Parts: sequence; C-alpha cells; structure tokens
Amino acid sequence: MAIRNIVQIGDATLRKKSFEVTDFGEKTQTLLDDMKETLIKADGAGLAAPQVGVLRRIFIVMAEGKYYECINPVIIETSGKQVGNEGCLSVKGKYGEVERPMHVTVKALDRFGKPFTVKASGFLARAFCHENDHLDGVLYVDKAKNVQEEED
Ligand code: CO
Repeated sequence: MAIRNIVQIGDATLRKKSFEVTDFGEKTQTLLDDMKETLIKADGAGLAAPQVGVLRRIFIVMAEGKYYECINPVIIETSGKQVGNEGCLSVKGKYGEVERPMHVTVKALDRFGKPFTVKASGFLARAFCHENDHLDGVLYVDKAKNVQEEED
C-alpha cells in the first residue's frame, strides 16, 4: 500500500466526470488499498478516486466506526434534509455550510464487483453525497452558502 497525493482545488482533475469501473483486478484493489491508507493518514471521513488523480467512479467513506468502499455508486433514494458544515481534503483549511438529504440509499459494487445497497442517515448520508459529487466534478464549495477559513 502507498500514500497517494491528494490534489487540491484548482487542479482540472477535480472538475472532470469520472468513468465507470469495469476492471476489478489488481489495479482497482491496489487503488482502494492506497485510498484507504491515504484517507487514514489525512484523518478524513471520505475520499474519492479523482482526489488522488484517478478518474474512476470510486469513493470510500470512513466514519462513525464504519468503512465503505463504493464502486460505480448511484444514490437511488433520498429523503429529508439537513444543513451542516462540511470540509474536503481537496479544499484544505476551509469549511462551509451545505444542505444535504438527511437519509440516502446508495447502490454500488464492492471491490470484487458484487452489488450491495447501503442506507445511511445524518453525517454518513452527508459523506456519501459529498463523495458522490466528486465523481461528477462537483465540490462542496459549489453548493455551500458560505465558505470560511478554519481557525487553528
Ligand atoms: Co471532498
């Protein structure tokens, strides 16, 4: 496994639409392992493949003691709404208030190409929506009402 470089806002990769994954071989396994290691090191809640410069429809979410790997994900159902602060490993040192659904249902493939469905609420639902947006070149700052500098 290896730590990958997380590209920052301004990099054209973050604005492109990612491609469907068709390969479930070693390359995808290695990418997922590297993304996991990179996310842990960065102490984030989620990471999408375009953030490490790979235009594939893959994201991972690690929060509330849970870990998900989603390939070719589709948000098939949403309900309710929540407004709260969000940050992004590709927009360092900032956060902003974004409205998201309170509940989501995501359909995706696991690293072996096996389909699964996951339902999430609250922070996890927010994380799924944020990461899924990355696959279409959308960043939270596009949706945030106000983006502020983090105080340290
Ligand atoms: Co992000």
